[in-house]
Amino acid sequence: MCGIMGYVGKEEAWPIVVGGLRRLEYRGYDSAGVVTVSRKRLRLARSVGHLRALEDSHPEGLPGTVGIGHTRWATHGGVTQANCHPHLDSAQRIAIVHNGIIDNVEALRKELVAQGVEFRSETDTEVLAELIGREVAAGRGLRDAVLRALRRIEGTAGIVAVDRNDPERLVAARIGSPVVIGLGDGACWVASDALALRPYTDRMVVLEDSEIAEISPDGVRTVDLDERDRDKRVEKILHRPEEAEKGDYEHFMLKEIWEQPLALDRSMRGRLDAGMGSSRLGGLETHEQRLFDIRRVVFCACGTSLYSAQVGAYLMNRYARMPATAEDAAELAVQNPIVDRHTLYVAISQSGETADTLGALREIRLRGGLVAGITNVVGSSLARETDFGTYVHAGPEISVCSTKAFTAQVLATELLSLRFARMRDLGANEGRAWVAALEKLPAQTQGMLEQWQLCKQMAERFQAAPYTMFIGRGINVPVASEGALKLKEIAYVSAEGLSGGGMKHGPLALIEPGLPVWALVPPDETRERMLGNLRELEARGAYIIAVAAADDTEVAELVDTVVPLPPHHPTVSPMLTVVPLQLYAYYVALAKGYDIDKPRNLAKSVTVM
Ligand code: AGP
Repeated sequence: MCGIMGYVGKEEAWPIVVGGLRRLEYRGYDSAGVVTVSRKRLRLARSVGHLRALEDSHPEGLPGTVGIGHTRWATHGGVTQANCHPHLDSAQRIAIVHNGIIDNVEALRKELVAQGVEFRSETDTEVLAELIGREVAAGRGLRDAVLRALRRIEGTAGIVAVDRNDPERLVAARIGSPVVIGLGDGACWVASDALALRPYTDRMVVLEDSEIAEISPDGVRTVDLDERDRDKRVEKILHRPEEAEKGDYEHFMLKEIWEQPLALDRSMRGRLDAGMGSSRLGGLETHEQRLFDIRRVVFCACGTSLYSAQVGAYLMNRYARMPATAEDAAELAVQNPIVDRHTLYVAISQSGETADTLGALREIRLRGGLVAGITNVVGSSLARETDFGTYVHAGPEISVCSTKAFTAQVLATELLSLRFARMRDLGANEGRAWVAALEKLPAQTQGMLEQWQLCKQMAERFQAAPYTMFIGRGINVPVASEGALKLKEIAYVSAEGLSGGGMKHGPLALIEPGLPVWALVPPDETRERMLGNLRELEARGAYIIAVAAADDTEVAELVDTVVPLPPHHPTVSPMLTVVPLQLYAYYVALAKGYDIDKPRNLAKSVTVM
């Protein structure tokens, strides 16, 4: 959600800090601000709205070679300039930016007000700034002051602080909210996301929970909350800077849709074992012996990732004959889950920072559960907090609307399910057929993308439809849900993803002449029953767009338009059937002129519960 960027070095901080914040814009925000230090004075610029407004209000920027900035997504207090970060203490000596929520803020605020402090904003961050400011005023260095203040708060905080009297240094801390520090020669950068660092460096240090770092142009020194030194590993930022740029595409979403063949190819590279008809997942192998004792798999995730988890659960049940479910992480975290030693929990999250998913995995691990992670973001909280895991290597996903991460996550669940299937019931030949199907997938996905014009035509035809239905069966039920989510999220169209089996039990009443219905009818065991659904829909005059085999004449006769599928193994169909649904949602939103990469009310990474 909110973004943090900071710089300390020899260059002017303003363009670097604003540039970093721009790369974090995709996370969603409603206001922005920057503090620099010059001549032992804090220079502050804050503005409601886009970064452009901040720049317009300060065309010359702010002077100083140290600076911190923030893009804010309102939680405590409305979207006003007074509530924008950075926040200063009442003595105007220190400034901080903060991601997270302080749960005990009201008690702390009351205490400080009783001591005469007059707060200028409604934020929890200003309270934290005041706590730090008081420690500094009492003669403590900035790091000690931050440390003592943090000991008083309950909640989450990714913060960066600066002291006008000690401008050669920043102090950053992580209590539950990510902070990464980029290392350079005579300069350091600090941010809430490695994407903001990559144009400057490919070397970073990732703060773990409860760590505090002192950052100067010469490097970083990290301690824990008990002031014990922490040895930090320098990690490599893997993506190239241009991967986080739009290039010739009008929107990140379109770019990311078209990147799917490449992402799938990268994601499966080195992980298929054609000879054994199985898969190799690095992280998994380290726990192989324990995996033989697994009797149940529980996936947990949110949103699009939950739909990829549902595909995973289907594959586990159907092909690995392993009892499996996919749980909404937001629910699982608060349901007092029954955790047992023979269950493997698999948390899936593109960002690896979704608070609900982290909450669920922490709850499970607390009860001794074995948790595997599937994520796209190297070094994310999910990657750090799971027992083992796998990266999907889809490359940076910037658009709020997730596309390539979905297919890459589904692929990861395929690899996991294939491995379990081969440990259990699946024969070598069937395993080889599955591997062969996966190998063909990048090229077949490319083929689905080539049908973009047909999807665009459909989108232009139905852009004004107030409601759209998506139906599927079996492995394609989650894909129908994913298609509906895309359309809701970026085109603001009311939409539902339904199981064909449920139609007669209620939703059929919604069908009226001309209503657009996307039907997923791959040539698998669900086809016969889907034909029944198509007849029901046709009889009631729905406009049916079917995603079906190119040579399926029976389907073609029942529906209005067919988006053809290539011949494929039934296990891989979600990664093909989802592509036209992504394109359709994109073109509906485009026709309506919406802000596709930053849909209203949403953020890329939902770091609050
Ligand atoms: C997808 O288009 C959404 N933006 C959203 O549902 C997302 O998938 C969800 O918030 C989970 O995010 P994560 O994968 O980063 O955990």
